Amino acid sequence: MMKKLIVGNWKMNGNLAANERLLAALKSAPVAADYQVVVCAPHVYLMACVQQLRGSLIQVGAQDVAAPAAGPYTGDVAASMLADVGCRYVLVGHSERRLAHGETNHLLARKLASALAAGLVPILCVGETETEYALGATMAVLRLQLRSALLPLPTDQVGRVIVAYEPVWAIGSGLAASPSVVGRVHAFIRQELMDIVPAGSSPPPVLYGGSMKPDNAAALLAVPGVDGGLIGGASLDASQFLAIVGAAAA
Ligand code: PGA
Repeated sequence: MMKKLIVGNWKMNGNLAANERLLAALKSAPVAADYQVVVCAPHVYLMACVQQLRGSLIQVGAQDVAAPAAGPYTGDVAASMLADVGCRYVLVGHSERRLAHGETNHLLARKLASALAAGLVPILCVGETETEYALGATMAVLRLQLRSALLPLPTDQVGRVIVAYEPVWAIGSGLAASPSVVGRVHAFIRQELMDIVPAGSSPPPVLYGGSMKPDNAAALLAVPGVDGGLIGGASLDASQFLAIVGAAAA
């Protein structure tokens, strides 16, 4: 069985002193060999995080990456730069970027390719909005998001991507999807991914994200087909994040 992956997404929070305190607490926690922890920090803090986590098993990820490899793209950060400062993972297509920055499925396919070319592990975020959920359009939305982002990749590269199912209505709302909804959707995503990867190879792991907290993490992480969690708010608090990590290790 693959290691469960617990990814913290700090979003636009923190500062040097607060990050240092948070990482010191995470570093001092006992580590089990059966899960992997990643923290996704704002770009300006990535290098400090990598330096502070040197010698620990916790990996660092970015929250976004530019599609082009280099050039006249003011304010953007290339995948090779993220790799250069020691990042191993990068979120691609978080709903906050899709909604607030107009990121399209087509753009996300290019971002995935750039991340992979730089040797990063991209975490492709997919998920339906509240209206789409209410309309019963979840599976259609996910199918479109998955196919348009993953089909342009060479099929042998798809297995290097991680997928995160993040229902938009569950993000930051305190209202996670129920284990039964998560089970149904993850089974659907897995089937979609099996249709994309070459026959006989394993589909990408699928994380759940959206109001994962210490009190629901064990139930969500125990759902078949849930390979880990993408945690926003609770990743900013060391004791909450470590409680979720503990649920992954249990
Ligand atoms: P949340 O955020 O845990 O605060 O709901 C999850 C995410 O946006 O990745």
